[in-house]
Amino acid sequence: TSDCRVAVLGRAGVGKSALIVRFLTKRFIWEYDPTLECTYKHQTAVDEEPVTMEILDTAGQEETIHREGNIRWADGFIFVYALNDRQSFDDICSIKQHVDDIRRTNVQCILVGNKLDLLHERKVSTVEGEKLATDMACAFFETSASDGGEDITEIFHELHREVRRR
Ligand code: GTP
Ligand code: MG
Repeated sequence: TSDCRVAVLGRAGVGKSALIVRFLTKRFIWEYDPTLECTYKHQTAVDEEPVTMEILDTAGQEETIHREGNIRWADGFIFVYALNDRQSFDDICSIKQHVDDIRRTNVQCILVGNKLDLLHERKVSTVEGEKLATDMACAFFETSASDGGEDITEIFHELHREVRRR
């Protein structure tokens, strides 16, 4: 069994907890409950290989998002913005920069634009997301925690593959 420690980062309200809960339970939570940090331990299989994933659900508050301990702890990162929230997209650069400053090496990560179901409120185009992911040298997904396609599972699995590859 291999281990993979995943930290999910992004501004408050972008849907970090909803994505994690969707991955773990295949359900969607509508209520907004600002997160106090918590970790989940999840046994799964990626490409037939057993994996123990530890997932850190961080709080998107300015003071806590940058906790150095969390950033050192993780093997890989999922950076989340909401595609109807421009500020959450603009925040990704500084969050990634902060991670790079602490880790001083290329970290494995995935960029996720969440809330794809709210297309009529879109403030960040797919092309902009793709471009940022290219700059970050990482994979990019647009998805919706509320729709719950297989792509959310794929986000976590893909991150594990990248962590294992290095
Ligand atoms: P913090 O814990 O405060 O940092 O926020 P968070 O990033 O964990 O956000 P959370 O998962 O709690 O979601 C915030 C709100 O957005 C909740 O009301 C969710 O139901 C809603 N939400 C999350 N994902 C989606 C989505 O894909 N589509 C829609 N329509 N709503 C979503
Ligand atoms: Mg949360």
